[in-house]
Amino acid sequence: MKRLLEQETAITDLSFSAELVAWQKKHGRHQLPWQNTRDPYRIWLSEIMLQQTQVSAVIPYYERFLSSYASVKELADASAEDVMAHWSGLGYYSRARNLHSCAQQVMNLYDGVFPSDPSLLLQLPGIGRSTAAAIAAFAYGARAAILDGNVKRVFCRVFGVEGFPGEKKVENLLWQRAEANLPAKDIEAYTQGLMDLGATLCTRSRPNCQQCPFHARCVAALTERTAELPARKPKKAVPEKSTVMLVVLHEGHVLMEARPNHGIWGGLLSLPELSRMPLSVSERVSQHSIESALAEFGEVSAFDELPAFSHGFTHYKLHVQPVRVDLLRRFQLAGQSGYQWIPLRGIASAALPAPVKKLLLAIDAA
Ligand code: ADE
Repeated sequence: MKRLLEQETAITDLSFSAELVAWQKKHGRHQLPWQNTRDPYRIWLSEIMLQQTQVSAVIPYYERFLSSYASVKELADASAEDVMAHWSGLGYYSRARNLHSCAQQVMNLYDGVFPSDPSLLLQLPGIGRSTAAAIAAFAYGARAAILDGNVKRVFCRVFGVEGFPGEKKVENLLWQRAEANLPAKDIEAYTQGLMDLGATLCTRSRPNCQQCPFHARCVAALTERTAELPARKPKKAVPEKSTVMLVVLHEGHVLMEARPNHGIWGGLLSLPELSRMPLSVSERVSQHSIESALAEFGEVSAFDELPAFSHGFTHYKLHVQPVRVDLLRRFQLAGQSGYQWIPLRGIASAALPAPVKKLLLAIDAA
């Protein structure tokens, strides 16, 4: 407990909230349809609609909802179909289902009056920690911390918080910041100021740092790292595999093999592969391994390694070493189901995987 208090004191920053409140009063938004009211119903409705949705998209929906359902009781009494029809087009439809059941719970549990305690609001459907705080702050002046995507971006930049904010450890640090920064008064202007700054100046791309009240102290602005903060989701390392593709040629024809129906390039014709097992990229292909693989197809006259290339799939990267094999004589393909000789001239119109087609077109053009 003592350590936690010390930590909190260490990150408490009174000038941040004072500057933000002053900026919001002068430069922030004051005429949004859900402002200038203390009606918890209107504030709750706006906060749910504004989750993951821009102000301009929300406004017409907000106004239609209010003209159809003027109070939480009217919304609770509406049919689910009617509520869904009003929400139609706004997206993230679980919000509409939660909205309706939240209205019913507020009627049943609280006699139609939204609680002012964020921890009680948090127990209602569709209300997370940040939304609970926003409702409590705007409707009741409660000193509670918000932390939505825009606010995370502002904190990461101003305070130089490293790491991906979707990661629990980083998110916890940001919540600590959010709590430590809360002002003693003016919680409404402070909360609105965070939202306004994130939406109007501290935007994800091309932030307007010149107009920002924090430009002289913002870690990201001072170090020219607004493009790097907040850190993006770390990319998972994609596994790499490699294969040898055989371009077996005989009198203007190339040997193709049907791929199994499942898996990559399922059902398409592709080049035969020397081994389906991953080979190390640097492994050289021996004449002997090629000759034994091709023993059933013909008599090898020459083989050449062609330039290697890579192809990215969603789940892995495939390194391909193509090897050109010219046959002196080609055997019949009796009993070799799945193999076909196709004319190189017909490659352009054949249904082949794109990198295979590209390789064969280059060989045909050579
Ligand atoms: N985004 C979330 N809540 C908001 C609010 N009250 N005003 C503007 N944008 C918001």
